[in-house]
Amino acid sequence: MSERLQVPRGTYDVLPDDADARVALEKTARRILGGAGFRRIETPAFEYTDVFARGVGASTDIVQKEMYTFDDGGGRSVTLRPEGTAPICRAYAEHGMHKLPQPVKLWYLSSFFRQEKPQAGRFRQFWQIGAETIGSDDPAVDAEIIALLATLLAELEVAGLRLRIASLGTLEARHAYREQLQAHLHARAGELSEDVRSRIDLNPLRAFDADHPGTRAVMQDAPLLLDHLDADDAEHFATVRELLDRAGIDYTVDPTLVRGLDYYTRTVFEFTSDALGAQSAVGGGGRYDGLVAMLGGPATPGCGFAAGVERMLLASARLPVGPPPVDLYVAFEHPAQRAAAFAVVDEARRARLNAQVELAGRSRKGQLKHVERLGARYVAIVGDDMTMLKDMQAGEQRDVAANEVVARVLRDRGMR
Ligand code: HAM
Repeated sequence: MSERLQVPRGTYDVLPDDADARVALEKTARRILGGAGFRRIETPAFEYTDVFARGVGASTDIVQKEMYTFDDGGGRSVTLRPEGTAPICRAYAEHGMHKLPQPVKLWYLSSFFRQEKPQAGRFRQFWQIGAETIGSDDPAVDAEIIALLATLLAELEVAGLRLRIASLGTLEARHAYREQLQAHLHARAGELSEDVRSRIDLNPLRAFDADHPGTRAVMQDAPLLLDHLDADDAEHFATVRELLDRAGIDYTVDPTLVRGLDYYTRTVFEFTSDALGAQSAVGGGGRYDGLVAMLGGPATPGCGFAAGVERMLLASARLPVGPPPVDLYVAFEHPAQRAAAFAVVDEARRARLNAQVELAGRSRKGQLKHVERLGARYVAIVGDDMTMLKDMQAGEQRDVAANEVVARVLRDRGMR
């Protein structure tokens, strides 16, 4: 016998129970986001590598070590998408969406790929539900994005939810601040971890993320970006907070909030859940006013969120759900009646009943046992002359002609 093969490390099969929970999650997201005016978008699973190198940022962990990059067969580098925001901004520019009424509101449920070390809640192929509002720098956009994710997570009954927000200001304000932070880090370089020290010039902000005790001590009196916002950015952030306050959304302002993507400007946020382990971030996002332009489009502001499907499912108290109820199960006395039974179940499905037919050659007794397992509401047992139709809930049964079964069930259920 040959070796039994398994899924690659960091990936998993979505089995039927999980698939049911995902469908329920998708339905909830579609209702909330669709209802708020977001339209579904789907971009390809791979893009030219430049979309991420330019969009996500060359100094980020994602671009430096987590992308699955390969040749497209014609000498051009392509990458399995590690995230959805840069591809959607690429699509916005490519399809001239700036000509539509602004802002353009888009949502997605897609799979993403990052070569990270697998652990609970962290996969190499994972799914996100995301929403992007492109074409307006109104602070109400930021507040709406945060509020919609808060509503989604509340509907899923995600336990122990916490929201942290901050503002990174504009790129210019951030550059000025970055120099101050670098000076602080260089002055105390001896106390920093090797990793942080080697990246002072490349990505000093990541130092806020470190677990290393020496680095943490240095960061305690590091200058904070929030204290260095210019007047416009500070006002923008104050309005976002005011809107969240008015909507009764709890949050803490965390000046050390670091997101792993470089395209952010102004508002950033992250929701964590106590129900998750070390990978506690259930969803996050922020504003990216320079991204569309970085990808070759017109200067266009934008703001969005993405939430991990696996993490929402892990932390949700409401999901999963079972398969849809079975309205009618069609059994038969002898194999000779299989064709008649098949015709009945086909008619039932055309009439929009959830119907199943015996497929495993069970005995009559075996079929009835299977009906119980399925919890079917009606069972029809096709016989030589008549078909016995039983309402399993009411316990009533009667003999009808095979071609009357569906009409009977529909009438009984008041569907006609
Ligand atoms: P992100 O924080 O990198 O943001 O990912 C968003 C969410 O995806 C995380 O909070 C987490 O729940 C989930 N996630 C990320 N990596 C993994 C993984 N390896 N395994 C399982 N789940 C994971 C973004 O991707 C941005 N595009 C969000 C955004 C949208 N910003 C603006 N618009």
